[in-house]
Amino acid sequence: MEPGTNGLHRVLFVCLGNICRSPMAEGMFTHLVEQAGRSEEFRIDSAGTSNWHVGTPPDPDAQRAMAERGIDISGQRCRQVRPEDFSDFDLLIAMDDSNRSILLRVAESSGVSDAKSKVRLLLEYAPQTGRTEVPDPWSGGSGAFETAYRLIEAGCTGLLESLPRR
Ligand code: 4NP
Repeated sequence: MEPGTNGLHRVLFVCLGNICRSPMAEGMFTHLVEQAGRSEEFRIDSAGTSNWHVGTPPDPDAQRAMAERGIDISGQRCRQVRPEDFSDFDLLIAMDDSNRSILLRVAESSGVSDAKSKVRLLLEYAPQTGRTEVPDPWSGGSGAFETAYRLIEAGCTGLLESLPRR
């Protein structure tokens, strides 16, 4: 498929486990898109670079951080990134530099040529945060999910503003 097939913006959020950051980003971005009345313009999903938690719902602390703001992510199930994601999505949005490097390696070993332009860091869209990475909250201390929430909210807001109406 060519980028933007059917006029859709196809966005995949990617982290390591697909149980914390990328499910939160998928839930947040879906929420912002719905609020903007733009649901029909988007296909949104998330995946992990690892296969450690495949099939499981998001981490309870990730679910709680979102539910406190009225966003329900309990129905999501973890899946691993696959080579077809580079043709099925226009943007693969990584949470940190490690996710980004692994995505580029997967692309290279799968013979994907246009990966560099598709693989972005979420916080490229939120330069005002002064950060480039959303830290892994799973191994972080207390407050790690709140930090992740704030950075993800800023990144997803900027990402949506960057994508023209279709
Ligand atoms: P995530 O967080 O990449 O934001 O989903 C993690 C979840 C699980 C693990 C690491 C990070 N883990 O090592 O199992």
